[in-house]
Amino acid sequence: MICGGAGYIGSHVAKSVAEAGHEPVVFDNLIAGHRWAVRWGPLVEGDLMDRGRIEAAIREHGIEAVVQLAGSINVGESMQDPGKYFRNNFSISLNLLEAMDATGVKRIVFSSSAAVYGIPEGNPITEEAAKAPINPYGEAKWFVERALDWYTRARGFQCLTLRYFNAAGADPDGEIGEMHSPETHLIPLVILGAMGVRPPVKVFGMDYPTADGTAVRDYIHVRDLARAHLLGVEYLARGGESTAANLGTGQGVSVLEVIGAVGEVSGKPVPYERFARREGDPPALVAAAVKASQLLGWRAERSGIRQIVEDAWRWSGKARREGLYSE
Ligand code: UFG
Repeated sequence: MICGGAGYIGSHVAKSVAEAGHEPVVFDNLIAGHRWAVRWGPLVEGDLMDRGRIEAAIREHGIEAVVQLAGSINVGESMQDPGKYFRNNFSISLNLLEAMDATGVKRIVFSSSAAVYGIPEGNPITEEAAKAPINPYGEAKWFVERALDWYTRARGFQCLTLRYFNAAGADPDGEIGEMHSPETHLIPLVILGAMGVRPPVKVFGMDYPTADGTAVRDYIHVRDLARAHLLGVEYLARGGESTAANLGTGQGVSVLEVIGAVGEVSGKPVPYERFARREGDPPALVAAAVKASQLLGWRAERSGIRQIVEDAWRWSGKARREGLYSE
């Protein structure tokens, strides 16, 4: 069962799981997710606050393992409305754990974030680095990780936590891709600016202590991310122990490098505006990516920035033609 399987990352996870011969059952309230993104198995339209509904779905579909990606994702909003983030990220996950316990399903892959590290002391960031979230979004992810640890020790759960760095790109077959409302992520904003659908992207800060002065992130292709979830479920099925692993590439890419890659793909220079730093943005976040590869036999195959942008560009063009941006 893929909670949040109608969303950006969840729908790619569903596709990967289906390609491996499993049936992904999507559990999603469709508040941020899209009905059109559920294509590889049944949709249970429900809310994770509704424990009875989760238990019924688990029993009805004979669920063997859960992937939990449901939640709110806007870091800035979490500073305005912390309650929403503790409820929509922590409370729902706790409810899900209780429903799993009650129905005897004890395997879960949890979608966590580099946000648990806050502003790291150095890069690349290993899994052992200090957990010091600087916003309620990251804190709520960390609360869930702590709860998973106790469900492992006290209730015999097997829990794999995957801490994503910057998910990006779109399905290489063009079937699904990123569609947030509002969109806050860099790559879709640069692309839509280049297509003239939106104003030129604002570059938040050009005075960071990085090579070109703009912030550096570790962008990972959503298809690579999705495959890690499948391998994660298989790892737990083999009896794998509860643990946490970063999902990144180990390569940092700056905002200006992203803009440059979009320029190469589109064939013309991309307009952008200089802007002030965005509050709470660390200068650089780059994953130490060794653990996921050792644990899962996983490696990023499609995560070069050029490939990410090509796939995202193709998807944005298609989504525009199909009128998805005006939904
Ligand atoms: N950026 C801009 N202009 C924009 C948007 C972003 O310059 O219009 C910059 C940001 O300052 C940042 C980089 O582009 O340096 C990437 O920004 P995103 O908003 O795309 O991603 P973040 O790194 O801020 O956030 C990501 C995930 C979050 C997660 C966070 C945790 O998208 O879900 O990492 O570290 F919480």
